[in-house]
Amino acid sequence: MINLPLMKVYLDNAATTPLDPMVFEAMKPLMLKHFGNPSSIHGHGRAVRSHIERSRSKVAALLKTSPGEIFFTSGGTEADNSALSGCVNTLGVDHIITSKIEHHAVLHTAELLAQRNRLKLSFVNLKEAGQIHLEHLEMLLKIPSKKTLVSLMHANNEIGNLNDLEKIGTLAHQHEALFHTDTIQTMGHIDLDLSLLPVDFLVGSAHKFNGPKGVGFLYVNYRHKINPFINGGAQERNMRGGTENVYGIVGLAKALEIACEELEVQKAQIKKLKKYMIDQLMKKIPGVQFNGQCADLNQSLYTILNVCLPPTSHNEMLLFNLDISGISASGGSACSSGSNIGSHVLAELNRDPKRGAVRFSFSKYNNLEEIDYTVAALSKLMRPK
Ligand SMILES: Cc1ncc(COP(=O)(O)O)c(C=O)c1O
Repeated sequence: MINLPLMKVYLDNAATTPLDPMVFEAMKPLMLKHFGNPSSIHGHGRAVRSHIERSRSKVAALLKTSPGEIFFTSGGTEADNSALSGCVNTLGVDHIITSKIEHHAVLHTAELLAQRNRLKLSFVNLKEAGQIHLEHLEMLLKIPSKKTLVSLMHANNEIGNLNDLEKIGTLAHQHEALFHTDTIQTMGHIDLDLSLLPVDFLVGSAHKFNGPKGVGFLYVNYRHKINPFINGGAQERNMRGGTENVYGIVGLAKALEIACEELEVQKAQIKKLKKYMIDQLMKKIPGVQFNGQCADLNQSLYTILNVCLPPTSHNEMLLFNLDISGISASGGSACSSGSNIGSHVLAELNRDPKRGAVRFSFSKYNNLEEIDYTVAALSKLMRPK
């Protein structure tokens, strides 16, 4: 047990972030007052429709693209599924190139699509710290196909590795392949300018940038038209059946607006916290290492730090013991938050299985005191019993 005054510290922001109170205020009128169905043509419906369309325009302007390219979804998973399925079912993709460290929203979807449609599925080789092997990607792009889709994420949600979208997208397009990227972890945290990026599909999820859960969006470049993933009514210009999550959509747009306005300030503040935590861990825990590229502040997302702890007999209890100390962190991906087993990403990195791994992920609401408390708790846990 740790004899520290108990604090409550939330360092699992790659799993989800707290709702910004300003976002809640923006959503409130849609919950309490504007209740019409946006598909109804009467005044109550039209009032709500205009909120959705204003939100779409806001998201499009923030990403420097046009509203016609933004489709709201129930979150990141649905957006990823829609993009991949649409590419196969509508655009004739018969070869998908991805990596073994993608989020399961992409990985499992690609595997299922390949199995069901007898497609070719290729995994790009990774370098030691999980970086994409670009030369291998180029070799895979040369494999003859009717149409190839490259799906590689912007920042890895477990280890924070950043991929170069410019390089990957350019390479894919040189070989006439489509490029989808899972930008769930970077949306609202890194500036994404769709007027410049060579990307055909990308995705966002509001709860990763201090917005509400259960709402996201898919960007589809105007050159492509894909079939809906969810069939039903004509909502989202026939791209997604179902009455819209109106307050979620309004909250998403507000959250993205705040995130983009505050981006540079938050980036500097959170980067400082991450650097401080790296320095403190190296001082206080002999033999500590970092998984993937996350200790390199230029090659990784500033919100994610995946710590590789020295081997001890009680590593499997780490998250449990941190939790007892009031610290919420994660051992695997967002979806297996709270468990210390089964990370398919860490498994690909060939790390020593005797070493424990904890992913700490930061938001604008964290501070240095919380980092000190967490490092003290962790170093105490690492001492021999
Ligand atoms: C990289 C990545 N992709 C997709 C998702 C799924 O997003 P959502 O929770 O909105 O379905 C997550 C969430 O953990 C993620 O981190």
